[in-house]
Formats: sequence, structure tokens, C-alpha cells
Amino acid sequence: MKSVVARRMDGFSAFYVMELLQRAKQLEAQGKDIIHMEIGEPDFPTPPDVIEKAMRHIQTGNVKYTAAAGLLALREKVSEHYLKNYQVEVSPQRIFITPGASGAFLLALGVSLNPDEAVIMADPCYPCNHNFVRLMAGRAIFVNVDGETDYQLSAQLIEANWTKKTKGALIASPSNPTGTLISDKELERSVNLVDSLGGCFYSDEIYHGLVYGKKARSALEFGDNAFVINSFSKYFGMTGWRIGWLVVPDSYINATERLAQNIFISTATHSQYAALAAFDAENIAELESRKVEFEKRRDFLYSQLIRLGFKISVKPEGAFYIYADCSRFTKDSFQFAKDLLEQQGVAVTPGKDFGNNRENCYIRFAYTASIAKMTVAIERLEKFL
Ligand SMILES: Cc1ncc(COP(=O)(O)O)c(C=O)c1O
Repeated sequence: MKSVVARRMDGFSAFYVMELLQRAKQLEAQGKDIIHMEIGEPDFPTPPDVIEKAMRHIQTGNVKYTAAAGLLALREKVSEHYLKNYQVEVSPQRIFITPGASGAFLLALGVSLNPDEAVIMADPCYPCNHNFVRLMAGRAIFVNVDGETDYQLSAQLIEANWTKKTKGALIASPSNPTGTLISDKELERSVNLVDSLGGCFYSDEIYHGLVYGKKARSALEFGDNAFVINSFSKYFGMTGWRIGWLVVPDSYINATERLAQNIFISTATHSQYAALAAFDAENIAELESRKVEFEKRRDFLYSQLIRLGFKISVKPEGAFYIYADCSRFTKDSFQFAKDLLEQQGVAVTPGKDFGNNRENCYIRFAYTASIAKMTVAIERLEKFL
């Protein structure tokens, strides 16, 4: 039978970095040493204690489906996390355990977005966002952002782009690819604005644990009407376990439960037990020491890239990315990334993966490699330049 792919797939973009990753693998197979600075996941393994507790759980054989919203004990832990870290009360009923932040996005948009409604988001941003909106037959409205607003939306930008067809605004702070945060004031203004317009505020807080020298505020501190997306992937170092969570406004609890039942049944049971263990005090201590290491890496990479002549208009304060303006060296950052890989064995992600806003002038460097490895990467980059 001839396959006729659904029209909704027409605008679904693939990751350009995959092309580079494939080539990097080929080069590695030929014995070349490749330094990976393109990968958006921590190089640290899942902490051994979490693995061990998950294994012990698997051995009990109790790995049947859980409730669609997730284990109550885990939802209670997440609720405690909000009280302890943000001083906000979030009832466990509003918390849904999901297959990663990706699953949380599907639920949040699935229960709130009607066909043809628009969601405002920054350009550059994490590329899956607009594809999720497309999957729901909605429309992504991209707003070009730059250093002026810390590469984030602002209340003013949201208001200027709001139309009758707009359902909401999506903010990711710290951002992928820029690692920059929205200011507390601007977050508060944006949450209040969207609320007053009767819309939905989608807050992607996946990089919240990885913020350096300051504390990220949650949209939940400014109102109960936000959808908050989070995950165990980044700070907790559990990408492959596919586990995250979503906080929904009260009025969406019932619909979210029904959607979760239908599209996931439940999140992997052993991953939920692993996530429970991830909140243990000793584990958090280990994750905090990793955070210190990420901060050192950020400082190292930032100063080296500036020294080499890259322009970084806002020093990133979170996540593990630096989005560097390379227009001094090239007008085609994708070609730049390909050449850097071929000639010097350093893999980075081209701006093209994050939107259409001067994308050819940017490269994303992920500091998911040790300082020792990055030292070599910088030497190679210098030679390349
Ligand atoms: C900003 C952002 N949101 C969401 C995700 C999805 O994360 P996961 O589904 O692994 O939790 C990512 C992954 O890189 C991300 O960078």
C-alpha cells in the first residue's frame, strides 16, 4: 500500500543536528576522537543510588500499570518540592506524572488547545514546542527575541502579538538554546497578563534545578492558572527513564486525567519508583555537587568563547548551553558546524535547529563535557578559526 503521510506532518521539522551526530558516529567508527558539545543531556550518569532503588523495585515484580496520574507518593513528593523550594502549595491532585516533559507538553496542549488556536513562543526556542502545537492542529506564533529581553518573551511582546485566536504563551526559563532566564518581574507580569486575557500560560521549567548564582521562580508563585512542565531528565540526570511531571490548573484536572489514561495509560512504573528515590536527601546532595561542576564549566566555556571572538550578549545563568553568535566567522552556521566536525572533531548544534531568527549566525555549545575535554575542544576550535 502506498503510504500517504498525514498533512499534519508536512511542517514537522527534523533535527539538523542528527545529520552531524550521524557523521560524528561514522568518524568515531573510523577511530577519530570526537568531542561532543552538541548533546542536550547531562554527561553524568543517573546516580547509582537511584538505579539501585529502581532495580530493587523491579525485583519485587510490582511493575504493573499505576494510576494514570502517577503514584500518589510521587505526586506528594513533587508537591513537597514546590513547598520546600518555592514556598507554594500545590495539591498533589494537580500534579500528573508523565513520560518526560515531552509527555507533559502533550497533555497540557491536548487539554487546552483547540484547532486553529495560536500559542506565542520565542524564536529561538526548543524545536519540539511548535511541533507539539502543530500536532494539536494549533498554530505556533514565533516572536523574535534577542539580548534586549534576555532571549525571552516579555509581557509587552506577548501583548503585542496577542489576537482573538491566541490561546496562550509559552515560556521556557532557563531557555534551550540560550540558557537565559526571564526576570522575576517579567515572569510575574507575563503570568498576570495572560491570566487577564483569559489565556493559558505554559511554563517549561525543565532546567530549573540548573540555575547558577540565583534562584529561578516558578510561574506557580504568581498564579494558580499556569500549566507548569517539568522533568527528571536534566537536573536529576534521568533522560532515558522518560519521566517528568505536569502541574495543571484545578479546572483541568479531570480532562488531564482522561487524556493521560487514553494516551499513556501510565508512566513506566519502575521509572516512577526511581523518581521517588531521586528526591532522597543524599541524592539531592550529589545533584547539587554536579550543579557546581556545571557552573564551573559554564564559566570556563563562556570566557573561552568570548576570548575567541564569539559574541554572547547575555551571560547564560542556567541549563547547560551557550548560544554564541558566530557571525564574525561565518554567514552559515550549519556549514560552520559541519566543517568544525570534519576538520577538528568538535560537534556542536547549528542555530537552524532552534528557529528562523538569525539562525545562520548562531551555534549552540552544550557544556555536557568535562572541562578537560572542553579544553581540548577550545584548542581545536581556535585552530579551526
Ligand atoms: C526546553 C526543553 N523542554 C522539554 C524537553 C524535553 O525533555 P524530556 O521529555 O526529556 O523531559 C527538552 C529536552 O531537551 C528541553 O530542552
